[in-house]
Amino acid sequence: MSTHAESAPLTVRQDVHAPIPRHVAIVMDGNGRWAKKRFMPRFFGHKQGVDALVRTVLACADRGIEYLTVFAFSSENWKRPTEEVSGLMGLVLVAVSKYLTRLADRGVRIRIVGDRSQVSEKLREAWENAEASTRHNTRITLSVAFNYGGRWDVVQACRKAMEAGIGPQDLDEDRLASFMALSYAPDPDLFIRTGGELRISNFLLWQAAYSELVFTDCLWPEFGESDLDAALEQFARRERRFGMVPAPAHAASEAVKA
Ligand code: FPP
Repeated sequence: MSTHAESAPLTVRQDVHAPIPRHVAIVMDGNGRWAKKRFMPRFFGHKQGVDALVRTVLACADRGIEYLTVFAFSSENWKRPTEEVSGLMGLVLVAVSKYLTRLADRGVRIRIVGDRSQVSEKLREAWENAEASTRHNTRITLSVAFNYGGRWDVVQACRKAMEAGIGPQDLDEDRLASFMALSYAPDPDLFIRTGGELRISNFLLWQAAYSELVFTDCLWPEFGESDLDAALEQFARRERRFGMVPAPAHAASEAVKA
């Protein structure tokens, strides 16, 4: 990947041959700052963040992306002020009732990943209803990571493997992955973080091992189709090697050996 290529002007995405990621993961950061810039409470930023999420799911579906996984509430977000946490919980309930039918009608399958044991019964029921009523949809799978942390995921997967009676000699990467929260999805190809911070923040630690990372200063509530396309452009320019050497270099070294 060359720096020049990354900073080249972006064009509208019309190249049908450009590789489209199967799975995109997003850390939706910047809601609070977006609201602050407008002298509004942080909650207002989260509310606009829901609209950005709905917009982005549909835009991903339109582009043929099969899986979108978003970080909505981290295991660490409980440390935020009580009113912000309860505001977010309430917002999710409102958002589910407001947007579920629209997303379901557009072929979106909804899955929730994370520790449900600490969320209210009302929210658990809303999640279960969203999952049950969209389970037959196949256009795109939206996984909402809620009360989720990458470290939590690794630990809960290990616990499940032990409970299943898998001994140390039988545990390998594939086996462990089958117990992880996103076992139904391929690993994310593209990992986007909005809001300007250059961190993974405990999101999909296991699954993002080979994801292409794209960081943007855009604050989440203003993330739109052009920002998604810009990230897809960057992804299309990256050479994915998964720890191997580039094909021409490999061919050259084989020729030297021969
Ligand atoms: C990070 O911005 C954002 C969050 C912690 C919450 C994201 C949640 C949503 C967009 C709503 C999700 C809704 C549903 C229905 C799944 P921040 O508050 O950390 O922003 P800041 O860095 O500017 O303070």
